[in-house]
Amino acid sequence: MSMIKVAPSILSADFTKIYDAVKMLEASRADYIHCDVMDGVFVPNITFGQKMVRDLRIHTSLPLDVHLMIVEPERYVEEFAEAGADIITFHAEAAMHLDRVIQLVKKTGKKCGVSLNPHTPLDVLEYVLDQIDMVLLMSVNPGFGAQSFIPYSLKKAQELKKMKESRGLAFDIEMDGGIDDKNVRSIVEAGVNVIVSGNTIFKAKDPQDMISRLILEK
Ligand code: DX5
Ligand code: ZN
Repeated sequence: MSMIKVAPSILSADFTKIYDAVKMLEASRADYIHCDVMDGVFVPNITFGQKMVRDLRIHTSLPLDVHLMIVEPERYVEEFAEAGADIITFHAEAAMHLDRVIQLVKKTGKKCGVSLNPHTPLDVLEYVLDQIDMVLLMSVNPGFGAQSFIPYSLKKAQELKKMKESRGLAFDIEMDGGIDDKNVRSIVEAGVNVIVSGNTIFKAKDPQDMISRLILEK
């Protein structure tokens, strides 16, 4: 198994052909299916909700990596857990009581991720870092696929990796936004071990080959 995990974002698939996309991913080296839930309030865009997760769950055994870009995530954590999410990630900026929402996710028995917008300092995680399974660093401003990678995200990943190592923790570091087969190496070198990718994979001539390239293996 590869050290690097790849989480293709289903948001970049043709929504009228989701089933085909899922089967394509199952036959690839994808580790997760990344589900971008947007509410039109936390971010300017609206995508899909619990029903998409529930329907995906019926058709795949790949872990569902649910990225909630919604305000008041505590209102929906249980519903996404019941729908079949495996990892539930919410934004620190959207949670008034970050610790409480972490506990809520953990109570569902699902893995808990916390996401930070590009500008949000790592400090907000200082006291909760040992309680979470994954940190999702946004490398674009959330809301849309196919945006350009923000270069300072690399420094942020390096700093997070240092925090992780100095505390002897084992959480995953996921990065999301503007990742392609050209910048992925620098991202992995900065300490990221879970790569989200939407546009690069779904617009590729051979999406399965692109997935292999993103884990830096053939
Ligand atoms: C952005 C989403 C991302 C995005 C990734 O708000 O969270 O998951 O769709 O897509 P690409 O790889 O196209 O930037
Ligand atoms: Zn995402």
